[in-house]
Amino acid sequence: GTKAVILVGGASRGTRFRPLSLDVPKPLFDVAGHPIIWHCLTAINKVPSIHEVHLIGYYEESVFRDFIKDSSVEFPNLSIKYLREYQALGTAGGLYHFRDAILKGRPEHIFVLNSDVCCSFPLNEMLKLSQEKDAEAVILGTRVSEDAASNFGCIVSDSHTRRVLHYVEKPESYISNLINCGVYLFATDAIFPSIRSAIKRRADRPRLGSYRSSENLSSSFIFDDDDENQKNEVIRLEQDILGDMADSKQFFVYETKDFWRQIKTAGSAIPANALYLLKAWQERSPELVPASANIIPPVYIHPTAQVHPTAKLGPNVSVGPRAVIGAGARVKESIVLEDAEIKHDACVLYSIIGWSSRVGAWARVEGTPTPVTSHNTSIIKNGVKVQAITILGKECAVADEIRVQNCVCLPFKELKRDVANEVIM
Ligand code: GDD
Ligand code: GTP
Repeated sequence: GTKAVILVGGASRGTRFRPLSLDVPKPLFDVAGHPIIWHCLTAINKVPSIHEVHLIGYYEESVFRDFIKDSSVEFPNLSIKYLREYQALGTAGGLYHFRDAILKGRPEHIFVLNSDVCCSFPLNEMLKLSQEKDAEAVILGTRVSEDAASNFGCIVSDSHTRRVLHYVEKPESYISNLINCGVYLFATDAIFPSIRSAIKRRADRPRLGSYRSSENLSSSFIFDDDDENQKNEVIRLEQDILGDMADSKQFFVYETKDFWRQIKTAGSAIPANALYLLKAWQERSPELVPASANIIPPVYIHPTAQVHPTAKLGPNVSVGPRAVIGAGARVKESIVLEDAEIKHDACVLYSIIGWSSRVGAWARVEGTPTPVTSHNTSIIKNGVKVQAITILGKECAVADEIRVQNCVCLPFKELKRDVANEVIM
């Protein structure tokens, strides 16, 4: 069989997702009407051989409880469990720490998904490639612009065989525009030994001094399975494992031509929202609102939200539970969160309106569109870097007729004057 692991990280991470991560852990933030990791589960649920999913992270135990409860009802074929790291163990450290739980039932393969990416997760295609090539590892790759590439893990591959020849995490100079999407498929009998050799190499390093090549050592050494060896050791797939796999394993890349984005900054929830809404629209999801004079698809409105029939919404708008949108308001390329209120004739563009925030009548809350191919949601305004997306944290209030442009506003702020290109603290 096959299992899936979603790396959810923890509370000290996701600082770039502020102010939104102040109130909800990033993996549970709603885009296109559902928590970010719900979109991962939906894709996992489409792989017939997967019945078990582990969320691995270092958030408190209670954080995912309700989400797991709801998801177990929605995805009855999946058993979903949260495994908590006692501290951040790195992207491979958690896998290794929980190897007994993961290997229970003897799965042949595991998918590992970064929780902070938005894509169509072509998992069945990755499995197919893995079978065709008898692979020990398959990585999901995508092409980005040359100047964006160095922000990601970069893959050099044989274009004919699709074999990964080199892997370098966030290289200083350009090596390839094929980048790591943060989605992997590993043969269990390849990944765990690889992590073990990485731990072993690291443990040996101080004793060996400048002796770096550990080839003969790792093959002859019998690993002493003592927890002492791993204490305080962070092991990262990207820096400690993948480069090695490219040298020594049957490691292949599946290149997706479909959409892919990272969800790092709070503003990046806006392109992710747009991409998932478009996907839902193409799949004719009954959750979306049909097109009409005042609805430009795709638009998601929670069944408990109240939207005045003369308000004009879309494209790419999500409206959360119990939100209220008044007469003549205009909302486009935005997320309106739970219990927020947008008064009559207000205009909200390229923005995120936080939980229980209020936008006054005739007010304008706006960000700036970024190019569709951009992997960056900051822009330069008057020589300074600002967020392209305007974000109001929880319980903010924008007074009537006020204009807020390219601002990030921390929770509980009242805006009574026009503001632009500021972080309001
Ligand atoms: N459980 C757990 N424990 N999860 C972690 C830990 C940890 O100690 N550290 C990070 N994660 C999770 C994060 O929540 C995220 O989902 C994922 O692992 C990767 O996060 P980062 O380590 O911050 O890496 P990155 O996002 O800068 O880069 C990675 O993703 C890119 C694609 O989005 C790399 O894999 C890049 O090569 C890749 O291009
Ligand atoms: P459409 O093609 O009908 O969408 O109009 P458009 O191309 O002019 O663009 P859009 O509707 O996105 O709105 C552009 C600007 O018009 C916005 O920035 C708003 O200032 C303003 N606007 C349009 N419709 C309304 C409305 O119903 N209420 C308010 N308050 N402003 C609106």
